[in-house]
Amino acid sequence: MTETLVRQQSTLDDLEARVVDARGWLAVDRQASSLLRHLATWSGAGWAQSSRPEIDSHQAHLEGARQRAAVALAGLDAGTVELARRRLGLRIALMGKGGVGKTVISSTLARLLGRRGLPVFAADLDVNPGLAISLGLRPTDAGLPAEAVVQHPGSAYGWSLAPGLEPRDVIDRYGVRGPDNVRFLGLGKIGSDDKTHTRQSVVALLHVLLNFGEPDWHVIADMEAGPTTPFEHYHAFADDVLVVVGPAWRSGMTARRLLPMVGEGRTTTIVANRFRDEPDHPGLSPAVRIPFDPAVAEAERRGLSPLDACPDSPTIAAINQLAELFVDQEVRA
Ligand SMILES: Nc1ncnc2c1ncn2[C@@H]1O[C@H](COP(=O)(O)OP(=O)(O)OP(=O)(O)O)[C@@H](O)[C@H]1O
Ligand SMILES: [Mg+2]
Repeated sequence: MTETLVRQQSTLDDLEARVVDARGWLAVDRQASSLLRHLATWSGAGWAQSSRPEIDSHQAHLEGARQRAAVALAGLDAGTVELARRRLGLRIALMGKGGVGKTVISSTLARLLGRRGLPVFAADLDVNPGLAISLGLRPTDAGLPAEAVVQHPGSAYGWSLAPGLEPRDVIDRYGVRGPDNVRFLGLGKIGSDDKTHTRQSVVALLHVLLNFGEPDWHVIADMEAGPTTPFEHYHAFADDVLVVVGPAWRSGMTARRLLPMVGEGRTTTIVANRFRDEPDHPGLSPAVRIPFDPAVAEAERRGLSPLDACPDSPTIAAINQLAELFVDQEVRA
């Protein structure tokens, strides 16, 4: 565990050392808050009690960074800070029942945000990959190469990024460049006889997501369907969680199960997808309704990005609305 906490601190310190403006301090504040939130989710567990002094000192380190950011931001003009907040990248995770449209929405949102100027890191956390194709990349098994991840008994799950390798280096070196300024990473090639590599890839990608706090990047993660990955806090990095629902009753039920797992300190947005005339699910009021469009499904069948295959689709227009809502939500935050 020690190694994981040390790496979190050094990455946060690195972010702070590179602060040049209000947005940089907002990123430090956000990153420290996110790590504190993550710490709080498991530090109360019985097994963590034996590491109490270590956890307390880690918490103090993170709180110190948050306080320095608060002091620096308080010393700046409110208008400057507000403007910087608008320019801070988003960190979004998408959840929902299988087949509701997480991948179509993740990829289109990533590309549409990329078109608005900031670079985007899109991560596929699904072992059944699909995000790359939906982004407009050729089918790719892009993941971290074996040399980027080392076995380390002091790390969470026994693996950590190779010494000296920061999450931003990982994205820079190994992220596959896609259209619209999107960089992509998935879990890599997963063979049935290679469970070690699978585990290693998952741990490394989660580490990258949790520790990548660059102020000028949007981050979007397409999560595996169902409640297991949110239960394991794969979405720990995210400030905003999109829960996607389809018209079927069961997808509403899944959403209701997912919502309590999102946790405090992040916003939750319900997105209705593939709706024709069906009513909303009771109690799940969507921020955006994305209509069913056969052209989107056809793009998928042809292995194309919906944004390339049917750019004028009403589905794309609604995802664009979602992108705008998100940028606005950050402004209001
Ligand atoms: N608005 C839409 N209109 C028509 N078809 C859609 C729409 N959104 C998604 N689809 C189609 O529905 C299918 C499932 O979408 P997608 O792969 O994005 O779902 P998912 O939630 O990522 O699924 P999984 O859980 O299997 O990863 C795909 O064939 C996709 O093309
Ligand atoms: Mg998917």
